[in-house]
Amino acid sequence: MTTNKQVLLASRPNGWVQASDFRIVETPVPSPGPGQMLIKIHWLSLDPYMRGRMSSGKSYANPVEIGDVMVGGTVGEVVGSSHGRFKVGDFVVGSLGWQQYAVSNGEGLLRVDPKLVPPQAYLGVAGMPGATAWTGLLEHCQPRTGETVVVSAATGAVGGVVGQLAKMQGCRAVGIAGGKVKCDYAVQELGFDACVDYKAGGLYEDLKAACPDGIDCYFENVGGVVMDTVLRLLNPFSRMALCGMISDYNSVEPYGVTNIRSILVNRVRIQGFIVSDRMDLYMRAIQQLGVWVSQGRIRYRETVAVGLDAAPAAFIGMLKGANLGKQLVRVG
Ligand SMILES: NC(=O)c1ccc[n+]([C@@H]2O[C@H](COP(=O)([O-])OP(=O)(O)OC[C@H]3O[C@@H](n4cnc5c(N)ncnc54)[C@H](OP(=O)(O)O)[C@@H]3O)[C@@H](O)[C@H]2O)c1
Repeated sequence: MTTNKQVLLASRPNGWVQASDFRIVETPVPSPGPGQMLIKIHWLSLDPYMRGRMSSGKSYANPVEIGDVMVGGTVGEVVGSSHGRFKVGDFVVGSLGWQQYAVSNGEGLLRVDPKLVPPQAYLGVAGMPGATAWTGLLEHCQPRTGETVVVSAATGAVGGVVGQLAKMQGCRAVGIAGGKVKCDYAVQELGFDACVDYKAGGLYEDLKAACPDGIDCYFENVGGVVMDTVLRLLNPFSRMALCGMISDYNSVEPYGVTNIRSILVNRVRIQGFIVSDRMDLYMRAIQQLGVWVSQGRIRYRETVAVGLDAAPAAFIGMLKGANLGKQLVRVG
């Protein structure tokens, strides 16, 4: 190993991300100093939040600077270390970016057990997206037995866990996803009670039929017309965990939601949240989800791009719904 392939942010997108917004370079593999370690990255996570980091607008986190390595969650193996707590052979999860190697002093890194679940699961079902599902559903929606829980982007990294946790809570779990293949997967493999294809043309009618008792908890991942439609079906004193609004991430103009009045009439409680705000829940969630995944109680799928050269296209594809389950890059 002599070179470190890296994907840099080349330009800020205006609207949809383009492959030309990224630049791939090769630099020398960095050398760890005293108290540091060198990590060989095996897996990179591709997540919707990265679209926000490509822009300079106000957000909950700082943008990536032009020319910097793209931000991203990673799982890697320690290949050189003079660190007190991490030794060669350890697997670590953290945010080391779109590159093959990184040097770290250990800050923000978590040692994980690759024998409990496959290492890349710590980027998905037993990692940040799983913890997001847990926090939004259990802390902010607080569903009760017998209630109806609806989640959008239902077959994605977050949504797939939301539906399965809702079933564990004794709820009716209804997904919203793009296309028959995804909806069949939600029902047949993930155990959702129903799944509505929002691309089929009858979202309101189909969702109404899938939720005969209305909607008590809505886990919002997409915003836009899907959110507007769900608002019409919310029950009195329902809860909405506002997790993401991916339909707007590449828009120049945000979607104008029209059914706001439902929030008043139905006394809806809406909580926007960022998973990292509650690290106590995060740690509890990934620990429990890891065990449940190892026991086969939580199921998941992955869409894998091979090599960092494939990362920009895979990222753009994920934003457009090309992924089924967690979108990953096998780095090396
Ligand atoms: N608040 C937090 O802390 C936090 C943490 C993690 C993730 N999130 C948010 O959670 C959401 C899901 O993230 P994820 O990692 O699980 O991604 P994901 O669901 O695995 O992938 C994104 C999915 O979004 C759907 N999508 C894209 N454009 C859409 C549109 N216009 N309308 C409806 N659906 C659309 C696509 O599925 P379809 O084919 O079904 O359309 C696509 O597969 C995102 O909004 C993300 O920003 C928030």
